Formats: sequence, structure tokens, C-alpha cells
Amino acid sequence: MACDFSMNPFTMVFITLLVLVLQSLSTFGDEQLLVRDYYKETCPMVEEIVRYNLQFAVLKNPRMAASLLRLHFHDCFVMGCDASVLLDSYGGMVSEKQAGPNVNSLHGFEVIDRIKYQLEEACPLVVSCADILAIAARDAVAVRGGPGWEVYLGRKDSLKASFDGANQFIPAPNSSLETLIANFKQQGLDIGDLVALSGSHTMGKARCLSFRQHIHDESAEEHYDKYKRYTPFRRILRSICPKTGKDNQLAPLDFETPARFDNHYFLNILEGRGLLGSDNVLVTEDHEGEIRKQVWAYAADQELFFASFANSMIKMGNINVLYGNEGEVRKNCRFVNT
Ligand code: HEM
Ligand SMILES: *[C@@H]1O[C@H](CO)[C@@H](O)[C@H](O)[C@H]1NC(C)=O
Repeated sequence: MACDFSMNPFTMVFITLLVLVLQSLSTFGDEQLLVRDYYKETCPMVEEIVRYNLQFAVLKNPRMAASLLRLHFHDCFVMGCDASVLLDSYGGMVSEKQAGPNVNSLHGFEVIDRIKYQLEEACPLVVSCADILAIAARDAVAVRGGPGWEVYLGRKDSLKASFDGANQFIPAPNSSLETLIANFKQQGLDIGDLVALSGSHTMGKARCLSFRQHIHDESAEEHYDKYKRYTPFRRILRSICPKTGKDNQLAPLDFETPARFDNHYFLNILEGRGLLGSDNVLVTEDHEGEIRKQVWAYAADQELFFASFANSMIKMGNINVLYGNEGEVRKNCRFVNT
């Protein structure tokens, strides 16, 4: 029965096809992954150039660390981490910068421009704007005393922006907990990521416009002490941000240690001292107590928070990444290449 081992044409075709499919799957898989050493050969200085410019920018304006962290978040939540947020309005396309959550509120575009300019001198058309945002966000956290992590690279830049997407997908500060959870879930992020990443509000500032509704909400129990009087915290915020006017007046998101990336945010929200409504609902609307447990754990153990935060940032940095020909490397982060 040895003749049974000789392949009939069908088996041969089948095996050839199988090998081809497996090969294409494996190369396909390789291309669809961010990697640490993506620019090792083509632009070995990339991380140094970003870090140097970031440190310089933060020396000039300490808030810039917070602003650059937020920029990466607002990029990733709209069509993925593809630098769509950096595009200016052009032709018929309206910039995401004009959308409600971003207008008069997002900062740091000039810093990205400067980094891009230097990268174009060092290694033209190699480093994507989306990768610059991811590296800058990581360095922004580190420079303020937060955790470090390896940034995975190889993102491509989008060919368009989505003004509607920015209005739809970036969570609003008056969202309920349920809405926040749904919002993150849409991006493939879970409740654990929501809690850890909200810890970003340990640095930076918000405008009166963003916290007015919360601070004047008579039904928010965290505004009263046990004698049913307004807490000093609430009185101070109401004087900074009256019921009308002073829309652009700023307050720090973390009153205790506004300049440091630490776990104070979680201590704050346990005491009802989150600045935004969306900060406080993590504790006040968590009826099962699972989130509160997480918040307590982070408040008690900064290293635990740091580890979770780094993990969730890597996860966020992977949202709907463009690979290979799905995008391009822009020459100028504000415009698609012509
Ligand atoms: C959970 C849902 C979130 C909501 C509703 C929210 C909302 C806001 C709002 C309203 C501001 C103030 C904007 C202004 O008034 O100009 C702000 C600031 C900020 N957010 Fe969030 N945010 C959320 C999650 C995140 C995440 C996931 C990150 C980062 C990974 C982040 C990082 C920041 C930073 C660093 C600032 C300060 C920016 C600066 O000072 O320039 N936020 N956020
Ligand atoms: C949240 O604020 C926006 C804009 O100020 C407002 O239109 C909306 O009704 C508010 N939503 C809730 C749930 O309060």
C-alpha cells in the first residue's frame, strides 16, 4: 500500500495552499504589530530628540507635560492613534481642533511641530506624527515623576480628520459613570483602564467651563460636610468659577500636588475633591463598589497605580493603529502629504 503515500494532485494543491496561507498569516501578523525598535535603523535618535524638546518645553511652561499627555488621548479616541488630531482645517475638511472637547482647550501643537521639524532634518519622512505623540505622552508622564514604559512604535498617520468623531467619542466632563464606561468600551478599554487612565488628572488644569456644572450642582453630596454646609473646597471653586462668566478661568485638576504625576488624584476623589464631575462619579455612582475598591488600592499604593497606568497607556496607544499602506508618514503634522 506504499503507493498511497504518493500525493495526488489535490493533496499537493491543498498543502501548497496551506503553506501559502500560513506564510501570509505570519507576515501579515508581523506587520500588524507595534514594536520597540521600529526606528532602530532608520532614525536611532528619535527618542532623544523627543525627550530633549519635551524637557525644554516643560521648563518653559510646566503645564505642557499635562497638555501633551492629553493630546495623545484625544488622538487615540478619534479613529485611533493616527495623529488625526494634529491636522488643521484644509479644503472641505474641518479640523478636530475645532470640536467641542478640543477648541480653546488642547495645547502643545507647537511643541509637536518643533519635534517634527528636527526629525525631518535628522531622518526625513521616517517618523510618524502618531508615534511622536505616543513618545511625547510617555516622556511627559516621566518628567513629572510618573512611571516610565517602553513605547511600541510603527504607527502611520491618517489621511483625514474627523470633527464629528471628536465630538462623539471624547468623553464630556458631565458624563455619568455609565456613559464613561460605555465610552471607553467603544475603544476596547475596560473599567480598569478607565480608572487607571483617569489618574492622568493628577496634573494639568481645567477651565471653569468644564467644571461649572458640577461645582454648582446642588444635589452633589460631596459638596457638603457632615453639618450640611458647603465644604471650603466647594466655596473656593465657586469663587473661581461663578455661575456665569469667567469661562476660561483655570483651576488645577489636582489641588494637592498639581505639578506632580502621583496618586493624589485617587485620594482626592475619595474625599469628594475631584474637580470634574467625571472624576467624582467614579466614586459616587459606583453602586457595586468594584471601582471604589480599585480607587482605594491606588490611593494606598502608588506603585500599583503606576504599573496599571503604564499598562493602560500601552493599551490606549494601540487603539486602531494604521499600519503600512493604511496611512503615511506626514512631512508636516498639520497637513497630509500632497
Ligand atoms: C474619563 C474621561 C475623561 C474626561 C471626561 C476628561 C475630561 C477632561 C476635561 C474637561 C479637561 C479640562 C479641559 C479644559 O477645561 O480645557 C481635562 C484635562 C486633562 N485631561 Fe482629561 N478627561 C478624561 C480622561 C482623560 C484621560 C484618559 C487622559 C490621559 C490619558 C486625560 C488627561 C488629561 C490631562 C493631562 C488634562 C490636563 C490638560 C492640560 O492642563 O492642558 N484625561 N480632561
Ligand atoms: C453636559 O454639558 C453639555 C454642554 O454644556 C450640555 O449640553 C448637556 O446637556 C450636559 N449633559 C448633562 C447630562 O448634564
